[in-house]
Amino acid sequence: MDIKDLEEELKKEVLGVKTLQELQQVKAKYLGKEGKISSAIANIKKVLPEERRDYGLRVNKLKEYAEELIRQKEEEIKRLELQEKLAKEWMDLSVPLEPAYGTYHPLTQTLKRIEEIFLSMGFSLMEGPEIELEEYNFDMLNIPKDHPARDMQDTFYVNKEGYLLRTHTSPVQIRTMLSQKPPIYIIAPGRVYRRDDDPTHSPMFHQVEGLVVDKDISFGHMKYTIEVFLREFFEEDVPVRFRASYFPFTEPSAEVDIGCVICKGEGCRVCKGTGWLEVMGCGMVHPNVFKACGIDLETYQGFAFGMGVERLSMLYFGIDNIKLFFENDLRFLKEFPKC
Ligand code: DAH
Repeated sequence: MDIKDLEEELKKEVLGVKTLQELQQVKAKYLGKEGKISSAIANIKKVLPEERRDYGLRVNKLKEYAEELIRQKEEEIKRLELQEKLAKEWMDLSVPLEPAYGTYHPLTQTLKRIEEIFLSMGFSLMEGPEIELEEYNFDMLNIPKDHPARDMQDTFYVNKEGYLLRTHTSPVQIRTMLSQKPPIYIIAPGRVYRRDDDPTHSPMFHQVEGLVVDKDISFGHMKYTIEVFLREFFEEDVPVRFRASYFPFTEPSAEVDIGCVICKGEGCRVCKGTGWLEVMGCGMVHPNVFKACGIDLETYQGFAFGMGVERLSMLYFGIDNIKLFFENDLRFLKEFPKC
């Protein structure tokens, strides 16, 4: 082929190339071992001797030209690729950044505050299982089978004889007394389960149990401990009253009310017009419970209390539906930025 034609053909092909890969193929086609230009160089010996010098010069020039042309094309393709990449990966560094920090769930915040207050008073933390022995949840807490008190808490039973989902944290009292010697000063936070479902009840909720067993413990110690806790928790000097009540595992028993934190005792929807809110149950540990746990009645006395964490949290934050705790709607959770 004529060298001029070869040059034209090469030019056309190189200019038409879009990718590095295509360029590589064109390069091989002309400059590869069997390539058109390489073959033209190999042809020198077939050219008439008088034309050889001129042919040699032209074909070698074409080779240099081809190399330069391909090098330039390669640069151009690389430049275009970079431009395309930069355009695609463009970032606006001036956009204001809104950091999405996580916060503790309002219930976790409430639990942490309850724990901190009791830990500061010298209590320790205890835990018990959520699938509990019926014996610990009821029998040893002085709630015998067929006793109407069992109906106070609608129970979820599990398909294993003698076990249930604990209906309260009170069985942790039993576990503690069976495993530790007095003096005992513990709180036991955790999940509990009941067949209950409405705007103020959830089938799963949280309680914090308290138990003190020591020498010379009186109702006065219990009253003082609970009053101090409630005033610390609500961060104000709330009125507290103890109302005689009944629990099988305490005698005497009481329910604890605080002056309504919403209406300050005036009477509102939340306190149902009474000006008071019930916040926990408590009492002096029943002798039958001590007996079941092998604690000497002559030497020791004790008190216990139990509170609902959702209820305290709802009152503290002013939340009116317990379901909000469990839907995990970010719009709700973002209302509680305290960590
Ligand atoms: N276990 C009770 C309940 O779930 C609450 C309770 C009342 C716990 C009195 C106590 C107590 O330790 O002394 O309703």
